[in-house]
Amino acid sequence: MILDSATALLRLLPAETAHKATISLTRAFGGLVGAAPPPDPRLAVRVLGRTFSNPIGLAAGFDKNAVVPNRMLRFGFGFVECGTVTPRPQQGNPRPRLFRLEEDRAVINRMGFNNGGMAQAAVCLAHRERRGIVGINIGANKDSADRIADYKAAFETLAPYADYVTVNVSSPNTPGLRGLQGRDELTQLLSVLTAARAELAPTTPLLLKIAPDLDMQALDDIAAVVSASGIEGLIVSNTTIARPDTLKSPEAKEAGGLSGAPLFEPSTQILREVKKRVSPSLVLIGVGGISTGAHAYAKLRAGASLVQLYTALAYEGPGIVQRLQRELLACLDRDGFNTVTDAIGK
Ligand SMILES: Cc1cc2nc3c(=O)[nH]c(=O)nc-3n(C[C@H](O)[C@H](O)[C@H](O)COP(=O)(O)O)c2cc1C
Repeated sequence: MILDSATALLRLLPAETAHKATISLTRAFGGLVGAAPPPDPRLAVRVLGRTFSNPIGLAAGFDKNAVVPNRMLRFGFGFVECGTVTPRPQQGNPRPRLFRLEEDRAVINRMGFNNGGMAQAAVCLAHRERRGIVGINIGANKDSADRIADYKAAFETLAPYADYVTVNVSSPNTPGLRGLQGRDELTQLLSVLTAARAELAPTTPLLLKIAPDLDMQALDDIAAVVSASGIEGLIVSNTTIARPDTLKSPEAKEAGGLSGAPLFEPSTQILREVKKRVSPSLVLIGVGGISTGAHAYAKLRAGASLVQLYTALAYEGPGIVQRLQRELLACLDRDGFNTVTDAIGK
């Protein structure tokens, strides 16, 4: 109740101010909020060498500097992904760069990987009491002369603290970054990272996060490269640069990546296309427009073993996590599945 009221008040602030305040309040007072009760055991998923208490995770971008992962886990998330973290600190794009599209239950952001850099994130993560599952999402600095070297450096610094590492090549807000999704560059990037992983952190799963704005040829290429690379999974998807005609909010014309409700259908469609192209052992995480248990369930049935959300949390507050768990259980009951695992890809 208090959290719902706080979320409603924060929504009166400009979007980026509200986000900063949310992180500060969560850091200062999050420990006073009672931890969510343990989720129903039927929601547990075992993948990536870990047991996830439930499949609903917090997507990257909320906790870019890895300041509050344990606080967010207390709200009931099955896992939390921090980042994107780049090797060196950077300011990101000029403000304003974050826009609420209230009428569309969506957000447009062009933050541009604002973050405190890998050394600062490593300090935060080193002080974290290690419980719950925390992934770290890594990227390249905007002014990097060697992007692949940036990913390698971030991996080497942060992998020791991560339950999995996500290679983010799909942000639309760093010019040229999405070019790393192409066949040759991706092959090179993943071979550098799998070699670094073999040296340093052989049991740390590597996942690649892709854009929803890829054509079928690009998906064929990514599936082939990923299958040959030995990485464990794909996160589908990041925000979209597309602007559906249905958008009503005046902010819809802002440049950047669109997330939230209008991303649900396209990102789920790309997830289905990816599922057709990869081996059953590759772990898929479905992201994009999830705000109900039915949305999470649709991504699971499309082949995702886990899901993530961000935008709906900004609109609704942390109570969303337990609501989604309840609704997901109702979907399982309705369709005669005993556990989440039984429903994956069915
Ligand atoms: C304000 C904002 C910042 C984001 N920053 C990142 C980021 O740093 N790295 C990343 O991989 N994804 C980032 N994302 C994308 C989300 O992780 C997610 O893929 C996308 O928003 C779709 O999920 P949603 O519709 O539930 O928000 C960001 C999204 C938003 C709204």
